[in-house]
Amino acid sequence: MRIAIAKGRLQNDSLAAFAAAGYDVPDEIDLRSRKLVFNRGGVEWIFVKDADVPVYVDNGAADAGIAGLDQILEHGCSAYQPVTFGFGRCRMMLIAAPGAPRLTKIATKYPRITREYVDTLQLRAEIVPLAGSVELAAVLRLTSHVVDLVETGETVRVHNLEIQDLVAEISPRLIVCKTSYRTTGERIRELISRMERRVELRSTESPEFGTAQPCPTPLGQRSRNG
Ligand code: PRP
Repeated sequence: MRIAIAKGRLQNDSLAAFAAAGYDVPDEIDLRSRKLVFNRGGVEWIFVKDADVPVYVDNGAADAGIAGLDQILEHGCSAYQPVTFGFGRCRMMLIAAPGAPRLTKIATKYPRITREYVDTLQLRAEIVPLAGSVELAAVLRLTSHVVDLVETGETVRVHNLEIQDLVAEISPRLIVCKTSYRTTGERIRELISRMERRVELRSTESPEFGTAQPCPTPLGQRSRNG
């Protein structure tokens, strides 16, 4: 079984979730090396960029992984998403440049989600795809607005930007390749139930931790409730 871990802000919480579910995960010494693949406890752990987790899982190059709903939606990922986690939650927001100009252009790392948002609200706006540091586009008036994630709100605050609307509630999900679910059923089902049990356990400890969803849950029924 191959599991994809997102490097970056979800990495430590994702590994902790698998460890709490009883999996032998790569340790700190492993992670300090430049290696991207580790074999532990009969699982092959691969470390990829957060945006690539849905790509690996959807195409069967990994059997499962933990990905943010932002990346799941942006990639139109059709993998099952049986478990929602409580860590790493944030909001995707429409944010305006200082002085809140009229909406004309939106910079974003999420052109697909932004297009859907703009179309749903029947707004007229050009979408400008960027790779990162998106808020700067509004600060420098490259665009009138940005659509980006807000976690603590600090980036918005220090740049004097104005949050205008909620685009989507974002939470990390366990995603499972549909083909793997059919062909390597036993181990994948065990993985799902171990992660679900862990989430249920944490839910009773802390209502913030998140809730397990029925499995398998095909994507495509986009939820704005995270
Ligand atoms: C993310 C996001 C915002 C920031 C929000 O960026 O795109 O810029 O964090 O966090 P805050 O509300 O806690 O300030 P990230 O650090 O992933 O870098 P990036 O913009 O280069 O993608």
